Order: sequence, then C-alpha cells, then structure tokens
Amino acid sequence: MCGIVGYIGPSQAPAILMDGLKRLEYRGYDSAGIAVHDGEKINMLKSKGKLINLEQKLEENPISGCLGIGHTRWATHGAPSDINSHPHISSDRLIAVVHNGIIENYLDIKEELIKKGYKFVSETDTETVAHLIDYYYKSGLGFLESVFKALEKIEGAYALGILCRDYPDTLIAARKNCPLVIGKGEGENFIASDIPAILHHTRNVYFLDDNEVAVIKADEIKIYDKNKNEVKKDIYKVKWDIDAAEKGGYEHFMIKEINEQPKIIQELVQRRIPENSHLIDMSGIKLKKADIEALSRIYIVACGTAYHAGLIGKSLIEKLTRIPVIADVASEFRYRDPVIDERTLLIVVSQSGETADTLEALRIAKRNNARVMAVVNAVGSSIAREADDVFYILAGPEISVASTKAFTAQVTAMEIIAVSMAMELGKLDSDKFNNIKSELYEIPSKISEILQKSYIEKQLAEKYSKAANVFFIGRGLDYIVSMEGSLKLKEIAYLHSEAYAAGELKHGPIAMIDENTLVIAVLTQEELFEKTLSNIKEVKARGAKVIAIALEGNESFAKEVDDVIFIPRTSWITAPLLAAVPVQLFAYYMAYCLGTDIDQPRNLAKSVTVE
Ligand code: F6R
Repeated sequence: MCGIVGYIGPSQAPAILMDGLKRLEYRGYDSAGIAVHDGEKINMLKSKGKLINLEQKLEENPISGCLGIGHTRWATHGAPSDINSHPHISSDRLIAVVHNGIIENYLDIKEELIKKGYKFVSETDTETVAHLIDYYYKSGLGFLESVFKALEKIEGAYALGILCRDYPDTLIAARKNCPLVIGKGEGENFIASDIPAILHHTRNVYFLDDNEVAVIKADEIKIYDKNKNEVKKDIYKVKWDIDAAEKGGYEHFMIKEINEQPKIIQELVQRRIPENSHLIDMSGIKLKKADIEALSRIYIVACGTAYHAGLIGKSLIEKLTRIPVIADVASEFRYRDPVIDERTLLIVVSQSGETADTLEALRIAKRNNARVMAVVNAVGSSIAREADDVFYILAGPEISVASTKAFTAQVTAMEIIAVSMAMELGKLDSDKFNNIKSELYEIPSKISEILQKSYIEKQLAEKYSKAANVFFIGRGLDYIVSMEGSLKLKEIAYLHSEAYAAGELKHGPIAMIDENTLVIAVLTQEELFEKTLSNIKEVKARGAKVIAIALEGNESFAKEVDDVIFIPRTSWITAPLLAAVPVQLFAYYMAYCLGTDIDQPRNLAKSVTVE
C-alpha cells in the first residue's frame, strides 16, 4: 500500500525523504513524489513508476529545504500517473498533502469546492483534502484549526502528512484507520507509515491513535485528540535492528525471510514453552480456564496467508479442545452478520496488524461484546492495540510482500494457543503435551535441513517453469498448506494455480487435468496418505505431472509420481510447519525462473489498509 515519510530538522529533507521512500518500497507502489518547504515556498516533484524516475527528476531539478513530505502511491482513485501521484497541493501552492487511505465522501466535498471556484487537476480523493484545508485557512483559521475543521468533514480512512506555505517550521500529521508513527530524534523529527522508513534515524516512536493530530516541529511534538486536547503518549522504543529490514547478502527479501524461519520459530517456541518448564507462557493473553469453558464458539478471522494460518488454528483448536471453531476471511465475515455474543472468542491473525478488513472484524466483535485475541507481528499496530489479548509472534519486520516467515510463526502461535487451551480444559495429558513440545523443539533444525536442500525446489522449478496450470492438492492440514502454496505461486510467479481438497477433484476440477497440468500433492498427514495417493493416481491417469511433498520413510510410493520432495518426519500437528517451506521455495524459484519482481509483485501491497 501507499507509504508516507516526513521530515523536519536541520538536514536537507529531499535526501532523507528519498531514503525513507526507498525503505518503504516493499509495501508496493506505482508512483512517488516529494514536497519540500524551502523557507518561502513549497516545491514538489512527482513521478509515475519506480523511485528511480523520481530520483532522476530530483537530479535534473534539485529542490532543497529542511521540511518535507514524501509518498509512494498504490493507485486507488485514478490510474498511476505523474498528476495523480502525491503530494497534492492546493491551487496557489499553499497546502501540500500526502495521504494513505481513502476519503469516502470526496466526491461530495469536491463538488462543493468546485462550486466555490476550486480547480482540480487530478482524479484522486486526496486532492480534495489539500483544497479543503486551503479553503478553511483562507476563511481565516490557523493551520492547525484548518486541519481540524477539514478532518471533521472528511469520512473514510487516512494517514496524512501536511505542509502549509506560511508555516516553514511545522509539519502536521493526522490519522484515522491508517497507521502512522512519529519518530522523535535529537533536534529533528519524522513521520512514517511504517517504522523501517525512519529506523536508521531514531528508535523512539509515538504511535498515533485514531482521530489524533500531531503538530511537529524540529524540537517539539504535540499530539491532540479530536477534541483538541493535548494528549501525552509514551515513547515506544523499537527493539529490532535495522539489519532485519535489509537484505543481508540475499538476493531478495523473500529468500532471506524464508531462511530466517528456523531462528524465529526457535525463539518463539523457547519463549512460550521454556525448556525446563511444564507450563506454557501465555504472556499477553488474559483468557483463563473459566473464560475458555464459557465459550460457545470461536471465530478465526484473517486475510490471505494469515487466513491460512488461521485455518490451521481452526483445525487444531477444534480437534484438541472440541470447541466449535469457524474460520472466515475478514472481508466476508464483516458483511455476513455473524452470530457473535459475549460467549464468542474472535481470534484475528495479522502480520501487519493494520489490515483494514481484519481490523473491522475485530471492531464488530467488540461491539457485540465478544472477546478478541490477536496473533500479530507488528508491535503497537492497530489490531494489537485494540484486541483484549495479544500473542506477538515477534518475527521481525517482514519486507517481502509475499508472507513466509510470518506464516510459519503464525502457525506456531496457533499451535501453542491450541495446546494451551486444551491444557487449561484438561483435554491434553502431560505425555501428549511433552510429545508436542519436543516436536516443536525439533522443528527449527528440520526446517534448516529442508533449506540446506533447497537446490531440489530450484531444480524442480527449472524443470516445470513452463507449466501453465498448477493444481495443489492435499487433505486435512495438507489441504491448507496447498492453499498457501497456491497463493504463493499466484502472487509472485503470476501462474494460474488452484488449491483443491484432494477428494474434491472428482467433483468437477478433474475435467481440467491433462498432460499440461502440474499437480503438487502434499501428503504429510499419515492417516490420509492412502486417500491422497488414490487422488494422485487419478490425475496421473489423465496425464498430469505430479510433484509430491511427503515425509521421509514413505520412499516406496515415489514411483507413483514424477518427483518427490521428502521432508523430515514429524507429527501431524507440526507437519504444516515443514511442508510450508518447500511450497515457499518452489514458488520463489518459479518466480526466479520467470523473472518476476519477487519482492514487489505487480498489483500487490504489503499492508492492505483499504477494504
Ligand atoms: C500473501 C500475503 C497476504 C497477507 C494478507 C494479510 O503472501 O502476504 O495475503 O497475508 O494481506 O495481511 P496481514 O497478515 O498483514 O493482515
């Protein structure tokens, strides 16, 4: 999604803004721009396409100044173009604005402003904000008052960075339903939609809350609530290192993050199930035995990859606790009037903690008196702050648009939550607990084993890179891994791919199988092995090529398929953590062979803050 960075201080803003925008590139964008106050006027440069285009413009037409705002745009209103890029500026260059989110009532406001004589040059909703603030300012209000007045009128979601020509020492920021942080430096301050943009300048950040407005000067930050009362906030010290947001020698963030998985899972498991303890450390979760006993149902709601982690959570929680669990994608859940009451637990899963649909699902549940537990990566994100209970996966910043390390950490979290609930209810004895614990402890080294043999997925990708149609099949938890594998292949290799419950093939999709189809079958669930094997035979009989992902020890079936990726043996519960890795690697190498933009696939954004 769009990215925002802003700076005020003694240094030259353009270099800081460009550097910040580069660090936000991973969010996905199609154009970019900066506006810089030179002490007298606001100068602006914007360009469609990658940041290199903007850099060239900056080289040809240098602008200078110590106050500025920058933006990477992911088009919503109006195609990617120089004109539609942010910042947007009012007619006589009085007010400049960068904006993430969507102004829902912009057409009404635009019409009113046109009647008042305002001229619009872009197709965006954001330009309305610049003209509206301009209008209030010219009616006699001050800069801050004009911003407040405009915010009263606009509906929708926004993170805003705003400059006014008459205020060369002030940057104003505002937020509603879109993330925005303020970085506090020494004699300089920053704003950003995401921490990596400013982390090499400061680790001290304030998270702006909804409806808050910040007035930022080089040596002062004042934050106001919507009633214009000043609010005091605690500084949050970012703990992770800037290295975590850099490639560290890898060619892409995605492969770096795939390789980080053993360490992340090891830390997560050791933190939550300490080696010498028989207890699970559920810090952040206040849900007690009586609360769990009182539950009539659990919903697990998320989007995309996080939803797949949620589906694994559904299977495990239901199986281990016998509480009914319904998993849903957030964009459906929010509009289908689900049955929610005080005996409902909603578990939301989100890497960014800012996904608009997931956040709204959380709010719906809270409005209906349900309890909300969040499984989140981004510390201090909106979802983390609004949930009753938070289970942080602490996977570090995930930069690649395609989620990998967050997925396996989310799955690990769901396993720990399921086991902990079952223990609380007395449904898991200590022997079973100890077995699961030792399986979890062995997962990092088993993933490392798979990673050491990643040449296998590379060779398979080279062999099958011409495949036009890919089916992933599996049963039970293997079906969910199939869904994740299929999503990865679609999003980064742009390959048509479907995931099917293996037993469903004969109910329709098998009609599509022929000698040009590649089928990837996941078979880690021992009790379903023979069933899936029958489905493999069905597709083989119709000419498909089959790659199987199976546990070591099942070598005898290899002759039934074209290729096999064997993964170390593990229990049914932990198998998805291992099976996920070959499907991630296969998608990565397929994309590599096909020459796509792996870390920033077309049309996609990292943090989806609009519905
Ligand atoms: C796929 C992917 C997306 C996200 C989804 C939810 O690789 O990254 O499908 O999983 O947009 O995002 P979060 O987890 O930030 O809520």
